[in-house]
Amino acid sequence: MRSAIDLPPPAIRDEARGKALYTAACANCHGDVHTGKGRLAASIPILPEDTIAEHTYLGTLTATRVVFIEKARHGGFLGYGGVMPPFSLEALSDAELADILDYLGVYFR
Ligand code: HEC
Repeated sequence: MRSAIDLPPPAIRDEARGKALYTAACANCHGDVHTGKGRLAASIPILPEDTIAEHTYLGTLTATRVVFIEKARHGGFLGYGGVMPPFSLEALSDAELADILDYLGVYFR
């Protein structure tokens, strides 16, 4: 987590945009948000609940949100492990990733 950087929330919040981006980039593997319906395998975390539950030791929503950002950017690389592919800035801009995070509900609770 040494290089982990948080992202600001979307300048203009738009749930439909976040949902469309999540559907295009994440849902094939993770299934529907909150339920995991349609996910590829039971071992793939339901977003965001499973990931939040696994990182309660981090203490704050901000610290936990950085896990989502780092995972999306690095996938299984840079010491993260696992088999998820990383998303480059070209594939998914910071603004698009922020839309997905907002859709996942990891900015405001
Ligand atoms: C090709 C399949 C695939 C896609 C696409 C995918 N993921 Fe994942 N993701 C996985 C798998 C498999 C795991 C569990 C194993 C691992 O950590 O690599 C995972 C784990 C995660 C975790 C848990 C990380 C942790 O350390 O607990 C988060 C958060 C996550 N994905 C977010 C996302 C987001 C956000 C997107 C879309 C931008 C996305 N994933 C797209 C397969 C995928």
